[in-house]
Amino acid sequence: MTGSPSRLPAPVAALTIALSKGRILDETLPLLAAAGLVPLEDPETSRKLILPTSREGVSLVVLRATDVPTYVEYGAADLGVAGKDVLLEHGGDGLYQPLDLGIGRCRLVVATRRGYDWAGLVQRGARVRVATKYVRTAREHFAAKGMHVDLIKLYGSMELAPLAGLADAIVDLVSTGNTLRANDLVAVEEIMPISARLIVNPGSLKLKRDAVKPLLDALSDAVRARTEATA
Ligand code: PRP
Repeated sequence: MTGSPSRLPAPVAALTIALSKGRILDETLPLLAAAGLVPLEDPETSRKLILPTSREGVSLVVLRATDVPTYVEYGAADLGVAGKDVLLEHGGDGLYQPLDLGIGRCRLVVATRRGYDWAGLVQRGARVRVATKYVRTAREHFAAKGMHVDLIKLYGSMELAPLAGLADAIVDLVSTGNTLRANDLVAVEEIMPISARLIVNPGSLKLKRDAVKPLLDALSDAVRARTEATA
């Protein structure tokens, strides 16, 4: 970690919310809208980095998912929406996580080529190579099982690693399962279910409580209404 949050400049707006780019964003925007917060420009197409919203003084920044916890930790954003996968890798230090938003649902799994004797390797206590973006979570998972694993950090296209002979297995997210199927891979262990969480800078919660608390309540109501509607 570099620098101290207290030495950073004040947020650019009264309240800044950091959103994750990609598939979580599609599910986040309706939830924000239900909580009365609509961006004044389309975040998918706008070239602006800071987007004003229908609520005066509340802005959105749309970031690469892994950067969202960092912005919120340092108070550059007051709130954020980030996947549990990203939060586990970040460590969650300095973040208040009050709400499971129930969106971006998927599973973190261990996957191998179809027909690969993963169970046999595990049983024999063989040293295996696992490629993943989720090094910290994977390390904890295999350590808890007492397995010796060489982890290889990748930044994308994890599914290629077992096919190209880079690794015996991968740890990756599975949503529809289409990517695994298309590459003749199968999930051999389930690590945990994943969904997106609301994260809050503890300082913002304290110092901007009048702005943050109503938003937390509105989002909490929107999540409850959504859950009831889909139950
Ligand atoms: C994720 C994940 C898999 C894919 C799984 O990648 O890494 O590749 O989605 O989804 P599926 O089960 O519905 O096929 P994503 O598209 O988020 O991009 P990334 O590789 O940049 O993480």
